[in-house]
Amino acid sequence: MLRTLLSCVALLLAILFYARSPSNENTSLPATYLVPADPSLIRFSVDSQTKNRVADTTAVILNWSRKPNVIRIASSLCTDSLLEDTIALVYIWNNSPNQLSRQDFPLCPENKLRIYNSPSNLYFQARFIACTEATTPFCFIQDDDYFILPEVLSALRSRYSLEHEAGIHLLPPHEALSSHLKRIRVDSKIHTGFAWLGHGAIIQRNHAVQFLSLLNLLNASVEELKMADNYFTLLSNTFPEIWFDQGIELGGGQPFTVGEEGNERNRRHIMRATHMLQQIFDCSQPPCIGGSDPPYLILEESSSAWIGRAPCLGCPCVLETSISLLPGGNTQFDASSVTELLGLEARNLRSLGDSTREFLNKPLSHAVDGNPVTAFCTSAAKKDDFLLYDLLNPAPQPWDSTELVILTDSPEVIMKGWKFEVNFINGQWVSLTEKVYCTSVFQGSSQTLHECHIQAASIAISKFRLTFHIDTPKRFCIHELWIRGRRELR
Ligand SMILES: *[C@@H]1O[C@H](CO)[C@@H](O)[C@H](O)[C@H]1NC(C)=O
Ligand SMILES: *[C@@H]1O[C@H](CO)[C@@H](O)[C@H](O)[C@H]1NC(C)=O
Ligand SMILES: *[C@@H]1O[C@H](CO)[C@@H](O)[C@H](O)[C@H]1NC(C)=O
Repeated sequence: MLRTLLSCVALLLAILFYARSPSNENTSLPATYLVPADPSLIRFSVDSQTKNRVADTTAVILNWSRKPNVIRIASSLCTDSLLEDTIALVYIWNNSPNQLSRQDFPLCPENKLRIYNSPSNLYFQARFIACTEATTPFCFIQDDDYFILPEVLSALRSRYSLEHEAGIHLLPPHEALSSHLKRIRVDSKIHTGFAWLGHGAIIQRNHAVQFLSLLNLLNASVEELKMADNYFTLLSNTFPEIWFDQGIELGGGQPFTVGEEGNERNRRHIMRATHMLQQIFDCSQPPCIGGSDPPYLILEESSSAWIGRAPCLGCPCVLETSISLLPGGNTQFDASSVTELLGLEARNLRSLGDSTREFLNKPLSHAVDGNPVTAFCTSAAKKDDFLLYDLLNPAPQPWDSTELVILTDSPEVIMKGWKFEVNFINGQWVSLTEKVYCTSVFQGSSQTLHECHIQAASIAISKFRLTFHIDTPKRFCIHELWIRGRRELR
């Protein structure tokens, strides 16, 4: 009884503690939800990372209409110690006639800040121009109404490389769904998709350079250039990589896309982008512009396999899964012309009907958001599907063994259905033979959650992989999934 009461209080505290705003950047999350907490447990956190990269990313922030947000975002990018090895420069492009000056950003050191007061409003084209002026190979792009947590940005950069054909885009679930359904294939030549950049995206400077030069070759009009975001992913002729975000909406000011007029403008420019792409392939020997090697466009085949991905809150890490996040629907990506994109999306959305509910309300990101109340839920796990938890750049740990911990409603699925493997820093996969232990944690009157863990007798672990060895049609939820160390108390 006392134990239950204590668990209940602990969970409540954890939830209260979670109510975290961007100004309260204390990221310590509990190592266990059991009470009393075992003092030998330490949660893997931002302090458990190595920082050995040279900062090689320029953050490009467009000032649209929310000066206080721009100051808050820039200050975090300039000063957060987690971003020291990521952000080389914060480039603020001010599209408005009111000048911005360095005095507006007292927390940003001189050499980390560049401000450009644009004589005219270039709209979204501005961020690509700013990126072409970067002296770093990578650009991080976002609008002024979102706060991207430092650990998320660090994870984006850790996963990104010059090998990527396209960018990685952070999107909230409703936009991730829309991107998932805005993918299209025509024969094997056209294979493209759509994703916004404003919620946070990492791209290469080269992409920005080549994209602007392709728009130029296509004789894009002034208005089309201004709406460059609507063209960026579609014209690359690749499927963009999408991550469910952990973004924090800052609000304030005036959004750019308002009401039906804004949506209509977006649809018009997305359609225009598909026509441009179609035109590039509509001749007897495509590509029909730019000789045999037009800029930016990827001509090789591209895989459409969709892996769900979400960055963690509380430490730089990525959770990914091959579980189908849209079961039941019959999603169709093949068409006879890329200009059918929006029609195809509408048809796919209709065919999915109710099965988008879990994608929208129980997204993968909820398993790694530090909040034990929210959950990732699925009833579509098949044999050989996996969940992979990537610690990215773990530092040598001050503990004796490492544990993967899962807070779930279905301990039997975890104990019976999965094979557990770890990947060492030297890159080898090894099966874990240890037993999975589950203990119940009380949560309110309606639901009991179970904290399950499996131990790996090593500290040099960089990834955990859970593979289903049977089909698991039962619905189950993962409320949290994290890594902790156990220190032998001597
Ligand atoms: C974060 O919170 C923990 C627990 O309340 C506290 O021990 C720690 O000192 C805090 N860290 C910072 C940087 O405020
Ligand atoms: C940022 O842009 C908006 C308009 O687009 C403007 O109203 C605001 O004043 C700008 N901020 C500064 C400091 O100029
Ligand atoms: C762009 O304009 C030039 C000059 O008018 C023209 O020669 C070229 O064919 C146009 N390119 C496209 C893709 O329409």
